Amino acid sequence: MNIENPKTLKPGEARSEAISVQELLDREKLPVPPVLRKNFNVHMGSDRLPTSRWTDPEFARLEIDKMWTKVWQFACREEHIPEVGDFTTYEIGEWSFLVIRTAPETIKAYWNACLHRGNQLKPEGTHGNATELRCTFHGFTWTIDGTLSDFPCRWDFPHIVDAEYALPEVKVGTWGGFVFINMDDDAESLESFLGDLIPEFERWDFKNKYVMNHIAKRVDMNWKVGIEAFAESFHVVATHPQIMPSTADANTQYDVDPKLNYNRMITAMGVQSPHIPPMEEQAIVDSMTPRAYRMGMAMNEFKVPEGMTARQYMAEMRRKQVGAAKNRDYSDATDSEMLDAIQYFVFPNFFPWGGMGTNITYRFRPDGLNPDSAIMEVFILSDYDLNGPRPDPAPMRLLGEDQEWIVAEDEIGGLAAVFQQDMTNMPMVQKGMKSLKKGVTLANYQESRVRHLHWKIDEYINAE
Ligand code: FES
Ligand SMILES: [Fe+2]
Repeated sequence: MNIENPKTLKPGEARSEAISVQELLDREKLPVPPVLRKNFNVHMGSDRLPTSRWTDPEFARLEIDKMWTKVWQFACREEHIPEVGDFTTYEIGEWSFLVIRTAPETIKAYWNACLHRGNQLKPEGTHGNATELRCTFHGFTWTIDGTLSDFPCRWDFPHIVDAEYALPEVKVGTWGGFVFINMDDDAESLESFLGDLIPEFERWDFKNKYVMNHIAKRVDMNWKVGIEAFAESFHVVATHPQIMPSTADANTQYDVDPKLNYNRMITAMGVQSPHIPPMEEQAIVDSMTPRAYRMGMAMNEFKVPEGMTARQYMAEMRRKQVGAAKNRDYSDATDSEMLDAIQYFVFPNFFPWGGMGTNITYRFRPDGLNPDSAIMEVFILSDYDLNGPRPDPAPMRLLGEDQEWIVAEDEIGGLAAVFQQDMTNMPMVQKGMKSLKKGVTLANYQESRVRHLHWKIDEYINAE
């Protein structure tokens, strides 16, 4: 451990001298699952990145043509389309897809376009249940599994061979209740793309979670600016100083390997930032009280008992309170799994957080072909009482252009204030980059996930 980055270390090897995530795990009272013991960071260089990657419409076009058309991407949750015939649309770039459950265990995704003259079969951003897919323009009709079933005035279309007019599909894969699509017919399977992520998440049982809240906002930024704003805890010291009393920011662990299609950071909670003077355990707890990161907790009047740390105590409170609220048993969950930001990133745009109880998920998408606009979405995924019915997923709430995140406080609690702080940066980053001739500079370790994102994009856009 060192703080000054002495010359004896290779680039990327330096770490904060504050307590590490692994040292905090050594103090757990319960057995620590192997997934949390992984700790790796492959250095990918320190070169500056040209700002055209975020601002140039041609680069955005390259990403669309060579990356978004080839990559697995999170389209919806299975609980959005639980019954046969349930559909939802998914938009990326200039395209829309119709994701539909065609049998109890089968989900398909079609290009959302009528094969007659191209009318969208369902309007963008809609969902519902269909017994057939009938185009509103002239009435060409398909069964939900994509077979052309009928159209008016057949006598005028002797050139249509029904078998050649099935709705074109894109690949669909599911994992943990998430439905993914991939436009590339030759793409590797979703299982192979996700690799070890699948066993790593097993413990957290994402299949049995539901979308408790879903908030979206269009932001004047490149989609990558959004991802990058959430991919590191380095900005806490300047952007979110109010959470430093209970956030181990500079000593966050970043797990990155260019061979993987995902990466991870673990930011310990209930532990103070190394940036501020030493605090009493009770003061750390008091600082957490007003910001219920994860819903379902009455966070008030907490007193740390003698001999317990703020972290141990708050984890125990969450085990009890969230466990009671969701009728789940978290007795084998480590403090880390109850409290920490175990934040995974699945390339190219999806952040599922690991851990128990309620979890955050982010998704960032380009807004059409515009490099200066993106759609940011926050999903709160929650456990629910497995003895009762599965709750319906929350509908997406799209915040208006002038609406601040703060209006979503009822849904996402103290996170709203944190997002509002991030919002002040993101559009200014997008504007400022246009004046940044030198290119973007990244920290070797704390911004390694940002570099990983660009590394992966390059893999796609440089592929033959
Ligand atoms: S465009 Fe769909 S039926 Fe004509
Ligand atoms: Fe932030």
